[in-house]
Order: sequence, then structure tokens, then C-alpha cells
Amino acid sequence: MLPLSDRPYTTVVLAMSADGKIADAQRSPARFSSPQDKLHLEQQIAAADAVLFGAGTLRAYGTTLRVLEPQLVQQRHQQNLEPQPVHIVASSQGNIDRQLRFFRQPVSRWLLTTSAGAKQWQDREFFGQVLTSETADAEGIDWTIAMKKIASMGLSRLAVLGGGEVVAAMLAVDLIDELWLTICPLLLGGSTAPTPVGGAGFSAATAPQLELLSVQEVAQEVFLHYRRRRN
Ligand SMILES: NC(=O)c1ccc[n+]([C@@H]2O[C@H](COP(=O)([O-])OP(=O)(O)OC[C@H]3O[C@@H](n4cnc5c(N)ncnc54)[C@H](OP(=O)(O)O)[C@@H]3O)[C@@H](O)[C@H]2O)c1
Repeated sequence: MLPLSDRPYTTVVLAMSADGKIADAQRSPARFSSPQDKLHLEQQIAAADAVLFGAGTLRAYGTTLRVLEPQLVQQRHQQNLEPQPVHIVASSQGNIDRQLRFFRQPVSRWLLTTSAGAKQWQDREFFGQVLTSETADAEGIDWTIAMKKIASMGLSRLAVLGGGEVVAAMLAVDLIDELWLTICPLLLGGSTAPTPVGGAGFSAATAPQLELLSVQEVAQEVFLHYRRRRN
């Protein structure tokens, strides 16, 4: 595992149905959680130097969630932080629709991609920074190198906002430190509906282990806070 001195501390924040789905089988935007959960998400974003999400999540929502709650805006101001954390999109191919409302939101946008993906984003009109790191076959992002680059740019607290593919890829190389999972009172079902961890999955023997830090029940929802347990 990459030491914490060389990478940001990473916290996954996701809401899921009681049957463990983070969206329906059509991969619609997940808008099923309560206002309390939305505030909780905003608090996690406000506490971060940067947020990271996959291109699948951006394609589903078309926007990113900004810190808008006055108290949280004030908190960042008092800490001498920019009003918004950096918003980083992960996409191996870089095929992202330039018409998305995301590109008109007042946030600092970065792209994490491969060298092939970066070719489409040479001008800085859409992304202020284009970070590249790729696996040996040049098909995917090398997450270990990516995290080193993010840390070297002064970002030490990273909120990972999904989706399941990005979380799986980061977990596979042991780059997740904490998870917040909100269980919401609905059942989505569907064998193709995404879950907090996608990818090929882990065997029971190699599954990342967690330590439960807290459980809180708020308005029919359950907020679970876990830390990655390492030997
Ligand atoms: N309930 C919640 O809290 C919540 C939060 C976020 C998202 N969601 C839901 O989750 C769904 C999206 O999740 P998802 O799992 O389908 O997609 P995702 O993880 O958001 O994004 C997948 C994309 O990210 C890039 N990517 C992921 N792993 C990569 C790797 N190892 N190397 C290179 N690129 C990689 C690829 O982009 P390219 O294809 O561009 O190469 C891939 O297609 C949506 O339905 C959304 O509504 C729910």
C-alpha cells in the first residue's frame, strides 16, 4: 500500500438502497436519499481538498454537488480554503460530453485519464488540470500513480463520490481509507444495478476488511461509518 505521506487520505461517501444498490438498473441519478443525507454528503465534500468521481457518475448526473450550505461555506472560508474543493473526474477514454452543465458550474475541474484520453482535452477551457497515469497496457488509469500525483499537487483529503467502478478500482490497490454508507429505506433490485463496489469483486479470502466506527439512525436512514482495517 502506498504510504499516506505519498497519497491523499480517501473517504468514500455513498447512499444505497436497503438491498445495496447505489442506483437503479437504468443507472439513473441516485436521488432517493433524504435531505439529511444530502447535508451529510455536503459536509463530507466541504471537509475535502478534492472530490473524485467516475465518468459514469458524471454521465448520470450531468453536474457535481457544490458546497452551498452557508455554514459550510463559512467554515471553508475560516480555514482559508477555496470556496469549493477541486472536482476530479476519472475517465480512461476521456469521452465526456462538453455540453454537460458540469462544465458551466463554478468549480475547479480536473480530469484524471490516460494519455489517449488526455489528447481530447488539450485546451484548458474545460479542465484546469489534466492528470495522466496509465496501466502497462495503456487501457486504464494506474490509481497508485494517480494518487501520488494528486498528493503532489497539495491535495491531502479526497472524498470519493462513486460510482462503484471507481471505488472497486481504488480498493483493489488498497487506496481507500474510510467509507460512509447511508442505507435508505427502499428496495431497487435488478441484477445489473450498480452497488458500492463494482468490478470483478473479491473472494471472501481476499475481501478488504472494515472496522465499524459508528452507526447512526436518522429519519429512517442508517448512516454507517467504516474504516479500512489493515493488518
Ligand atoms: N447512490 C450514490 O451515492 C451514488 C453516487 C455516485 C454514483 N451513483 C450512481 O452510480 C452509477 C455510476 O457508477 P458506475 O460504477 O457505473 O460508474 P463510475 O464508477 O462513476 O464511472 C465509471 C467510469 O469511470 C472510469 N473508470 C472507472 N474505473 C476506471 C479504471 N480503473 N481505469 C480507468 N477509468 C476508470 C471509466 O470512464 P470512461 O468510460 O470514460 O473511460 C468508467 O466507465 C450511476 O447510476 C450513478 O447514479 C450513485
